Amino acid sequence: MPSPIARRAAMLLGMIVLLLLTGCGEKRPPLSPRGQASQLGADVMRGRQLIADYGCVACHTIEGVKGPVSRVGPPLKDMALRAYVGGVLPNTPENLVRWLLDPPAVDPRTAMPDMGMSVADAKDIAAYLLTLH
Ligand code: HEC
Repeated sequence: MPSPIARRAAMLLGMIVLLLLTGCGEKRPPLSPRGQASQLGADVMRGRQLIADYGCVACHTIEGVKGPVSRVGPPLKDMALRAYVGGVLPNTPENLVRWLLDPPAVDPRTAMPDMGMSVADAKDIAAYLLTLH
């Protein structure tokens, strides 16, 4: 039978461990990039125009961009609320840019081709997509 002091010490230790485990005050990264588009310092309206220019609508139905109803790729809506890009990358502004620059480099089995875009274009396009929620 442990002494009352030992039991109290064990309880205190347990509480400290619990506090550490729940990470009091620790900031967890958000699950979606909502409201983070400005991190890219990009031009949202140029991004929307670029989406039309690159012909993304050939494969995607994209909110706010005119085009045929295409279902080759997933409809691009709610992009600011998604937890993952392409089901593999945590959805952050930087990762969305990374995906747009070279999808097969992220996931070799993806059907989305490398569209050969510049970093500046990818940032503007990502900024537009991140307004969708
Ligand atoms: C040839 C068809 C095709 C074209 C063109 C294309 N995509 Fe895709 N895209 C896909 C497919 C298929 C997927 C699903 C990939 C996966 O999940 O592996 C995808 C996935 C994506 C995703 C991730 C969506 C999600 O739900 O996570 C984004 C963002 C995206 N595309 C943006 C674009 C943009 C912007 C363009 C134009 C610059 C573009 N795509 C052009 C086929 C295409």
